[in-house]
Amino acid sequence: MARIAVVVGSTREGSFNRALGRLAVRALEGQGAAVTHVDLSGFDLPLYSAALEAKAFPPDALRLKEIFAAQDGLLFVSPEYNGSVSPLLKNAIDWASRPTGEESLVALAAYRGKASAVMSASISPFGGLRGLMHLRQILSTIQTLVIPEQVLVPNAHTAFDAEGNLVETLPATLVDMTAARLVAVARALSA
Ligand code: FNR
Repeated sequence: MARIAVVVGSTREGSFNRALGRLAVRALEGQGAAVTHVDLSGFDLPLYSAALEAKAFPPDALRLKEIFAAQDGLLFVSPEYNGSVSPLLKNAIDWASRPTGEESLVALAAYRGKASAVMSASISPFGGLRGLMHLRQILSTIQTLVIPEQVLVPNAHTAFDAEGNLVETLPATLVDMTAARLVAVARALSA
């Protein structure tokens, strides 16, 4: 069974990306994955600093890293902030990329060899596309294999119905297609 973590780059009450993340969890479970929903509001992650790291690696950064390391695939759902990913998400990705214990600088135990996928909901008509292009580049840099499918939800303020489902067929179909491919690639990479 493929183990997939879903990480949402917003902790905002009423966040559209959290709503999208919930749909992604359901779609991944529908594909038979064992899903871990990583709610970043439950992690005390200070802004990365080398001085802080040298003093003591934050316990929640280590907890996050260990959760990532235990997965076969990672799905990131991020808002777009000024054309890039949210600082909340980037900081979490950065902490989990750091070596701990006796690891070498380039070990990337949380990421290397895993499949990854990206989704974004945005109030703009472009659906967070620029942010996802940055996110793809970041995920490639840390040596995950980013699948080609992705989900953009434009006009997010009108995109969800009262039950939290997507009103339009296209993004809803893409959630399923992205989940299916992520599970298939994660399985293949971990075999
Ligand atoms: C935004 N937002 C935004 N949206 C977008 O499509 N492109 C952008 O470049 C930005 N830039 C941006 C910067 C900052 C600092 C904030 C706070 C917001 C709007 C953003 O898409 C909107 O607030 C979403 O609702 C955020 O996602 P959640 O919290 O609903 O998941």
